[in-house]
Amino acid sequence: MEFMRRKLIAANWKENKTNKDVLDFIEKLKAKELKDRDVLILPSFVSLVLARNSIGGTSIMLGAQDVSENESGAFSGEVSAEMLRDSCDYVMIGHSERRKYHKETDAQVNKKIDKAISAGLKPILCVGETHEQRKDGLTNDVILKMLVEGLNGFTEDELLDMVVAYEPVWAISGGDASHERASTEDAVLAHRFIRGQLKTMFSEEFAEKTRIIYGGSVKPTNAKELLDAEGVDGALVGGASLDVESFAGIINY
Ligand code: PGA
Repeated sequence: MEFMRRKLIAANWKENKTNKDVLDFIEKLKAKELKDRDVLILPSFVSLVLARNSIGGTSIMLGAQDVSENESGAFSGEVSAEMLRDSCDYVMIGHSERRKYHKETDAQVNKKIDKAISAGLKPILCVGETHEQRKDGLTNDVILKMLVEGLNGFTEDELLDMVVAYEPVWAISGGDASHERASTEDAVLAHRFIRGQLKTMFSEEFAEKTRIIYGGSVKPTNAKELLDAEGVDGALVGGASLDVESFAGIINY
């Protein structure tokens, strides 16, 4: 069974860019000649509405970097899926920086996915091992736990628009080790493992349809090799997405 999976190139801006920077970036990106790929920008919460207006009728999509696990209520500082639905197409869930700095658990990730889906948002579930876990040979175990616990209780119909992002923590700039991207072979193996697990947990058709994107030190110089590799359906780009030339270079790899 073979399905065409459109490449998705996503910009995870983390705690970067003011409203002015966001507008400036989007204006420049709109002016560029871009290949026909799914392009997604993940600015901070405060720029989402502005970014939505600025994107206008273009095909650029918008997402948030996190979402509350609660529907609403006395949770100061949190932003609910319902609040995001007007401006966002996607929401990133379980990024390693959330797991590390905010001690986010797989159970919370599971609740966040539930809230996202209920609000009609497409979740991007981030999974990946730390340097330590890789050294100990635990890569697949770690990924498996994140998938099984993160996706516990959902049907494949509910997860139809989900994207999985494989982000080895050691390869993320600002991560815990090399800040070198994973070798193409490592990425291919991890993506194959994830797709295999999706097949076991759901179905072959679901596994073949689901996009699995790679994140961790993706740059214009290495994008082609990674994105042409078997089972790599796109990129989640941090550092190299902050500059519009560099991000456009990755989109047009
Ligand atoms: P990086 O970040 O491209 O700067 O390594 C990727 C990510 O954390 O999503």
